[in-house]
Amino acid sequence: MIEVKNLKINVWEKEILKDISLWFEPGKNYLILGKNGSGKSSLANFLMGNPSYQYISWEVRIDGKNLLEMEVSQRAKSGLFLSFQNVPEIPWVQLWEYLRIIYNNFLTTHSPEVKPLSPFVFKRFLSKYLQELEIDETFLSRELNVGFSGWEKRKIELLQAKLLDPKYIILDEIDSWLDVNAFQIVAENMKKINTNNNALIVITHHFKILDYIDFDTVYILKNGQLQKSWGKELVKEIIEHGFE
Ligand SMILES: Nc1ncnc2c1ncn2[C@@H]1O[C@H](COP(=O)(O)OP(=O)(O)OP(=O)(O)O)[C@@H](O)[C@H]1O
Ligand SMILES: [Mg+2]
Repeated sequence: MIEVKNLKINVWEKEILKDISLWFEPGKNYLILGKNGSGKSSLANFLMGNPSYQYISWEVRIDGKNLLEMEVSQRAKSGLFLSFQNVPEIPWVQLWEYLRIIYNNFLTTHSPEVKPLSPFVFKRFLSKYLQELEIDETFLSRELNVGFSGWEKRKIELLQAKLLDPKYIILDEIDSWLDVNAFQIVAENMKKINTNNNALIVITHHFKILDYIDFDTVYILKNGQLQKSWGKELVKEIIEHGFE
């Protein structure tokens, strides 16, 4: 479980989150809503260990361990995964080599009995995931995200989630800017990676995702505060009347 107690976040002297407490439990799904600029991405980036954010917190734990003392890589190895809203482009790094390194690194950390995969075996192993996400094999030789369309970047983010099978999967607007078919592929793959052992934490402005995923809890960020709730009625009210 990830537990966040009395968290305040500032960036560049600006107060983004005032005092919020929340948790994410494996086996449950969470929807994070809020107006543009309400602090959703800041919360996600802070959890992943982005140093841009100044914070004061009573406590932030991941499976009992103090998240605040962990390096980004340790957070990832503990099962925290963030798909960025703004996916960075990384020249000189070939996509397939990057994927192979993260796969081998994380999988062998978790299960020492798993052998690192060679380039040849790894490419073969990847092919089923490429098919599920309709990613052309030629992509594998390209530089990581360089010149990828928004949709292609989204697919690579999902591909990483599939490969690593993390316990806490934060997807920051992975469904934005997609056409109808692309949205469907993303939503179906989100459904596929969602198991009883992980928590899907979805930040979105698109309520269509509710047709695919059952959410247990909705967190709404507003004026730096957090409202926790569930009930499709509330979501319906937001769809009709907005966050006010
Ligand atoms: N690294 C940063 N440097 C400067 N300002 C930042 C940084 N990160 C966030 N902010 C500011 O914090 C506020 C909250 O931004 P954030 O991206 O968390 O909102 P959001 O809820 O994700 O919005 P959206 O729905 O538009 O993605 C914004 O005013 C933003 O400009
Ligand atoms: Mg955002």
